[in-house]
Amino acid sequence: MSEEKRRVLDLAEQYVCPGRVRTFRGLGVDLVIGRREGYRIWDLDGQELLDLHLNGGVFNLGHRNPELVATLRDALETLDVGNHHFPSAARAELGETLARLTPGDLHYSVFASGGGEAIDLALKTARHATKRRKIVSIAKGYHGHTGLALAAGDERFSRMFLSQGAPGEFVQVPWNDPDAMAAALSGDDVAAVLIETIPATLGFPMPAPGYLARVKALCERRGALYVADEVQTGLGRTGTLWAIEQQDVEPDILVTGKGLSGGLYPIAATLLSRRVAGWLDEDGWGHVSTFGGAEVGCRVAQRVLEITTRPAVVANAKETSQHLSDGLEAIRRRHPEWFVEVRRAGLVMGLRFADPQGAMRMTRALYESGLWAMFAAHDPSVLQFKPGLLADAALRDEILARFEAGLERCKASLA
Ligand SMILES: Cc1ncc(COP(=O)(O)O)c(C=O)c1O
Repeated sequence: MSEEKRRVLDLAEQYVCPGRVRTFRGLGVDLVIGRREGYRIWDLDGQELLDLHLNGGVFNLGHRNPELVATLRDALETLDVGNHHFPSAARAELGETLARLTPGDLHYSVFASGGGEAIDLALKTARHATKRRKIVSIAKGYHGHTGLALAAGDERFSRMFLSQGAPGEFVQVPWNDPDAMAAALSGDDVAAVLIETIPATLGFPMPAPGYLARVKALCERRGALYVADEVQTGLGRTGTLWAIEQQDVEPDILVTGKGLSGGLYPIAATLLSRRVAGWLDEDGWGHVSTFGGAEVGCRVAQRVLEITTRPAVVANAKETSQHLSDGLEAIRRRHPEWFVEVRRAGLVMGLRFADPQGAMRMTRALYESGLWAMFAAHDPSVLQFKPGLLADAALRDEILARFEAGLERCKASLA
């Protein structure tokens, strides 16, 4: 290891997040990202990695996408973060674009600087609209580490920070279990059901046919609001701009983040239907966020949406999904005792291994084979496999070759 890399690792361990640095080192992953371009990153010591993690979709359009870098540079010629109290062209135009690109009556955009804040906003809105407190979410789901998002997530973290809420305030039910959802809603006291359209930390198990539509119908019957967390599944990653469009559900609230930033300027948004957005009229300071909807970030996000919705980009994503699926299935057939399932919705993929810790072992072997992809936090048998929207034919083949090499390396290390 170079002196420079050791210096950065030691500084991070000493001053930033010792537990996280130690955990990655323990996994055999001592990555410090240096150069980055397209879907490639290079460790400070020069090791090249294909990025199949994309930080949950932040780099959906690649690292330092040249069009997005140019947009940010242009914006910086005349703009800065702006003043969040006053209207701005950048923010207003982005709001108009999001309303136009989103089905149903998701009319208003409230901007945040990250996904967790945007989830908090969604839940605050639901509580205001329904005058109820209870929030139902999916067990082992993930919505961020801020206040209400943390409480709605796994108790590993909410308990740690004494943030579980009052008894019965945050309730979790198993994924794909409509009866459990019906029971949770039966008291007519739920403000919102918060659901990732395909839960990332669970390893992207697909919604059973009709499940989400049934949850929405239950919400309507019981006076609860449906909040779609599209922080990972939105922005073209599943074949439509929003994954929920394929589920016959019109959410009351939709949350987007990660890739909206283009990987260049933090921004997230909570889209509200007119029916639930009463607080925006009642008190314009109901939510305030100094950096939420920063003007330069809005300009980047506007360009992200323009690129993401180009017909050629949509077609390329579809082709990549099919090509990788065919290739992965062929690899799976060559290693059926180890690699057991390919879950897929567009470019959102979960690869399941027979060993309950299989994806954790694969993470390290793939890292050593030049591919960065991570196991699902709440199901380490599943590897999150997240190619970008702009991957070309050569990259797809390179991904498959490195994946199979990593898989063989992993199996050999266990033999
Ligand atoms: C599905 C989902 N929702 C919300 C969040 C929170 O986003 P942020 O880390 O920007 O607060 C994440 C982040 O990983 C996520 O994956």
